[in-house]
Amino acid sequence: MTLLANPAVEGYAEAHTTPLPPELVEVARETAETLGSPQMLSGPVVGRLLDILVHALRAQLVLEIGTFSGVSAIVMAAQLAPGGRLISCEVNPVHAEFARRRISDAGFADRVDVRLGPALETIAEIDGPIDLVFIDANKTGYLDYYEAVLPKLARFGLIVADNTLREGRIVEPPEGDADTAAMLRFNEQVRNDERVVASLLSVRDGVTVIRRSA
Ligand SMILES: C[S@@+](CC[C@H](N)C(=O)[O-])C[C@H]1O[C@@H](n2cnc3c(N)ncnc32)[C@H](O)[C@@H]1O
Repeated sequence: MTLLANPAVEGYAEAHTTPLPPELVEVARETAETLGSPQMLSGPVVGRLLDILVHALRAQLVLEIGTFSGVSAIVMAAQLAPGGRLISCEVNPVHAEFARRRISDAGFADRVDVRLGPALETIAEIDGPIDLVFIDANKTGYLDYYEAVLPKLARFGLIVADNTLREGRIVEPPEGDADTAAMLRFNEQVRNDERVVASLLSVRDGVTVIRRSA
């Protein structure tokens, strides 16, 4: 992952963020070794941001779109309100199986449901109200996920979308880069959508935090 800020500044930000617990550092290490693509992990700075938001919302229902190895699901599950639950969507059976085992090892099997299948199908099965939605799957799907979850978002709920700056490519989109083109459409729609208030944070790879305007 290319960092947006000076690497020394990114390093400083990470060094001054509460570290993830050692068990999760181990899952991240094992992810890189077993599944590859470690750049798909959100990392400790975004992880702690999610931790803080789920905690502050006293979330009863969290929806994650894109489980991968389960690291962000475990971070958020640890902060759910008593009786709360997290549904995480994953289309890749290898990722889903890997995550289910780590989530169980972390002691959260009772509150986390990893649902295998295309995220849009899983979202259709959920009634809400959803306190926090973390969008972190295929970039070409962001706009559809956003439209599908917004009507189900709790009055004081939040949508958090990762990778919205596409490693900086968002300002100079390369020819033929379908993911960056899709993210441009997503960012425009959110910016112009009177149903919401949004802040695109230049944290790591870009994290947009969105609330309902009414
Ligand atoms: C960036 S990774 C998620 C990382 C994870 N949230 C974390 O921070 O630890 C994206 C995941 O979304 C999954 N994915 C891609 N397209 C999907 C779809 N249509 N429905 C559900 N999951 C999908 C991929 O298989 C991959 O595991």
